[in-house]
Amino acid sequence: MQDAATATPETIFLKDYTPFGYKVDSVSLTFKLAPRATRVISKIVFSPNPETTDARFFLHGKQLDLKWAKIDGTEIATRAVPGGLEADVPTVPFLWEAEVEISPETNTALEGLYQSNGMYCTQCEAEGFRKITFYPDRPDVMSTFTVRIEGSEKVMLSNGNPTASGTGFAEWYDPWPKPAYLFALVAGDLVNHPGSFTTKSGRPVELNIWVRPGDEGKCAFGMEALKKSMTWDEEVYGCEYDLDLFNIVAVDDFNMGAMENKGLNIFNSSCVLASPETSTDANFERIEAIIAHEYFHNWTGNRITCRDWFQLCLKEGLTVFRDAQFTSDMRGAAVKRINDACDLRGRQYAEDNGPLAHPPRPDSFVEINNFYTATVYEKGAEVIGMLKRLVGDEAYTKALDLYFERHDGQACTIEDWLNVFEDATGRSMKRFKRWYTSAGTPRLSVKESYNKGTFKLTFRQDTPPTPGQKQKKPRVIPIAVGLLAEDGTETHPTQVLEMTKRQQSFKWEKLSAKPVASILREFSAPVILQRETNDTERAFLLAHDTDPFNRWEAGRELSKSTLKAMITTGAPASALYLDSLHAAIRDDAQDPGFRAMLLTLPGQSELAQMLHDDGVTPDPQAIYDAVQTLKLTMAQQMQDTLPRLYAASQVDGPYSPDAADANKRALAGAVLGLISRTDGGKTAQAQYDDADNMTQQLGGLSALLTAEKGEAAVQAFYTQWRHDRLVLDKWFMLQVAHAAPEATAATAEALTRHADFTHTNPNRFRATLGALAGNHAGFHHDSGASYALLADWLITLDPLNPQTTARMCAAFQTWRHYDAKRQDVMRAAMERILAQKDLSRDTTEMLSRILS
Ligand code: BES
Ligand code: ZN
Repeated sequence: MQDAATATPETIFLKDYTPFGYKVDSVSLTFKLAPRATRVISKIVFSPNPETTDARFFLHGKQLDLKWAKIDGTEIATRAVPGGLEADVPTVPFLWEAEVEISPETNTALEGLYQSNGMYCTQCEAEGFRKITFYPDRPDVMSTFTVRIEGSEKVMLSNGNPTASGTGFAEWYDPWPKPAYLFALVAGDLVNHPGSFTTKSGRPVELNIWVRPGDEGKCAFGMEALKKSMTWDEEVYGCEYDLDLFNIVAVDDFNMGAMENKGLNIFNSSCVLASPETSTDANFERIEAIIAHEYFHNWTGNRITCRDWFQLCLKEGLTVFRDAQFTSDMRGAAVKRINDACDLRGRQYAEDNGPLAHPPRPDSFVEINNFYTATVYEKGAEVIGMLKRLVGDEAYTKALDLYFERHDGQACTIEDWLNVFEDATGRSMKRFKRWYTSAGTPRLSVKESYNKGTFKLTFRQDTPPTPGQKQKKPRVIPIAVGLLAEDGTETHPTQVLEMTKRQQSFKWEKLSAKPVASILREFSAPVILQRETNDTERAFLLAHDTDPFNRWEAGRELSKSTLKAMITTGAPASALYLDSLHAAIRDDAQDPGFRAMLLTLPGQSELAQMLHDDGVTPDPQAIYDAVQTLKLTMAQQMQDTLPRLYAASQVDGPYSPDAADANKRALAGAVLGLISRTDGGKTAQAQYDDADNMTQQLGGLSALLTAEKGEAAVQAFYTQWRHDRLVLDKWFMLQVAHAAPEATAATAEALTRHADFTHTNPNRFRATLGALAGNHAGFHHDSGASYALLADWLITLDPLNPQTTARMCAAFQTWRHYDAKRQDVMRAAMERILAQKDLSRDTTEMLSRILS
């Protein structure tokens, strides 16, 4: 038995990168499937790599039982070393053969080859292939793969195209050289929802979504999303699909959302299965985006992959950017941009301004699974958005064309990516590169002056120190600005200012009066804007700004300003905010989705972060109380408008997940959340009872819980849906999310004792314990019960599934923002986890970084 987990955790550095000493010319794998004793026989042709002098022959391997190994047909002795094996090999091309035994059934980490409901499936990114066989498991080693699967399963799939099949076996060949992390195998009694697509050059492609029997009815939407993605990528990026077959498989036990294995994408069933009765509008939108995301990886990730895992944002940042463009095109740019900004501020800013801060391209890691972060993904995507804004749309297209042409078939770096932009535009990317190499969110402060027709904006950027990076050099920041006249007309349309220095001024001359500036339109850079302004100006922008993002932003700033006063001084809700909001939501010319966003208040953890930034220690209960008070006041003040708006936002006809209908339901849902605070839950109960789709059923239930009238509905919902595991996840989540602060820990604890709770399924675990961490006032309740409960469950899960355990440790990342007592209790909870014998490398790294 070889086991890397027994080796001491080692830090890997980007600066130590060296190419592997051998090239892999071809890989042939035979799988003899058995739940606890699968045999994997590998035949790999290696040849010395002329690009390196490193002759050490090292193959990764983890939890593998090696039966024998041969070189050129002769059995050899190998040396076990931490993380794998070494062998003496010829200096000319040779054939490596080996047989190992693995146990999919007992693989609870859901990495490598494992079983989920009896179905075999794989997850190899980032370093899971080494749990399947001995191999140079690194993304810069690429090869073609031939696969033979022997087993009694009805369906046996791998990457590429099928080449042969018969009773008890199936064979596959993937002609595109790929790194091992893109390998996939699926075998089980699955059924398919078929489809087809013809590429722009006329290649017919067979499409399938493979699911457990019983789930056939939940595939149609995913199939349409796939076809839309294929068309969009051809039209917008010129990227065409390159195999005869594209398979998607739905799996119930999956650590992440989905995985882009070549020709065989594997999805968490929650991210592909959809039906109006069981999925919300938000589920439909997410499924469309994630199908697009994994499909888009075929070019940005698979055809062009990463040289090493430090370059992860090369594929992830770019692919998130591309899926955001797709969602914008499918469902509307303004709402998508607002959603993305909220998400970035909620998750990435927390990371960037705490102990886990790291650059989009980190320069060291212990466990790579811990770096699939909001910074690599979402900030990585923002960095590309800035690049596009700075060079312009045309130059961006030219650069991407060059990227595909120059690097197809290669494993690349951020340097390669930036060189393409330099060569396509003639601009230096030297300064811009800092976005990739430094951590932390820049604070962008701005001062305004007006004198005799000249308006001046003076910006200053400062980035607070982050772990390992004390001094911060100024970054290139695209600042989109427009000017409005006093009557609200736009006198100067959006222009992108390019800030390159620490401090810099921009002027507008020959103005007839002092303008109102709309700054950082479209959220043009992932910075924190610190503006000298006041609520009157914010209200003006909320009413008049021609940039929808900044119109929403003005409303958000107003809400934060009143909440801050309510929390810290007990002030009543601001009349100016309430009046401006009221006017904005009554404006029927505005998109309902946009108005729904206006009615959504900042999350309580975001408010805690805001208070901390302003030097105030957040009191979670006070934040909770202020938010409740504000919502009640909103409901009372807009009492006449809300029922009318609710009625006007009802959708006629059969349910469709299209943006137009979904946006109306979003507005109706936001309004219902308020109405339920004054009507005793009457409207919510009616909506719950009449609902013919999950969006309205769950919206009704959630509003009933708000009105504290949800008990019967919670029971009824369970009875109705106990046989649908994805709907049941919602049931677990909603109860914890809506629990009052003092009842949150007890609610979650009771649910973990429910017969349908199972901690080995990541969706169910996250629905329950993730919701606990997400209920801000409940998680941070004085009793400390939630901290202890989460710690207990992380301790239970770690030996079984380190990856999901480690991710959830992030719940503690803001611990230093709170008062001394809470800090002590949170530290004790983390130390209790750290003290566990044989704690995983994943969890150890996360908690040590958070505590450091
Ligand atoms: N390549 C990832 C999946 C992955 C991540 C596998 C980490 C192993 C470890 C995939 O392309 C991805 O990014 N999925 C996201 C969803 C996406 C829409 C951002 C996910 O799974 O959350
Ligand atoms: Zn991805």
